[in-house]
Amino acid sequence: MPQPLHLGILLSGGGRTLQNLLDQIDRGTLAAEIAVVIASRSNTGGEAKARVRGIPVHVVRPKDFPTPEAFSAAVAAHLDAAGVDLVCLAGFMVLWPVPERYLGRTMNIHPALIPAFCGQGMYGHHVHEAVLASGVKVSGCTVHFVDNEYDHGPIIVQRQVPVLSEDTPDTLAARVFEAECAAYPEAIRLFAARRLKIVSGRVQIL
Ligand code: GAR
Repeated sequence: MPQPLHLGILLSGGGRTLQNLLDQIDRGTLAAEIAVVIASRSNTGGEAKARVRGIPVHVVRPKDFPTPEAFSAAVAAHLDAAGVDLVCLAGFMVLWPVPERYLGRTMNIHPALIPAFCGQGMYGHHVHEAVLASGVKVSGCTVHFVDNEYDHGPIIVQRQVPVLSEDTPDTLAARVFEAECAAYPEAIRLFAARRLKIVSGRVQIL
């Protein structure tokens, strides 16, 4: 039996994506183990969800560091210590300058079809409000490798959902989150199976 993938989860909020990954692991649909959780704020729901499961959690706040590089190094030191194979951003609302050794093994999930409706300030309801205001007929979610820009980097998996005329930000968010719950594990399984190759800034699925 191959070793389960060791995941490091970076979060800032309620931890719904963390919970989804834990549920998938429990159901046996994701062969992984959450080795460490890092929260960018104190007292988040995500931190509480990790503690309930006995997962080591560290609160690492950008404001406690003199530079983005010092913040980045502090996060990476926890990931290194936990022996993390893959870093998953799960509602992580700050920019983590990705150290060289974690490029190509750091993923993010965004609740829209990148490159639309993404970037700094585009999170949670802001995304779905912008989608509804634009009049587009489809939205969805994107899992991508992380580079050093918000919601940017080679795209791994996208799942599409319809935007309905009667949608509110809440109803659209719920539909997109359902798609996220399938898309993130799918991307992680592809990574675990070594089927993802980045060629000229794009992901090839082998
Ligand atoms: C993620 O599922 C993702 O949709 C969104 O935050 C959710 C988790 O947050 N990420 C972004 O918007 C990144 N730009 P939560 O754990 O606070 O519910």
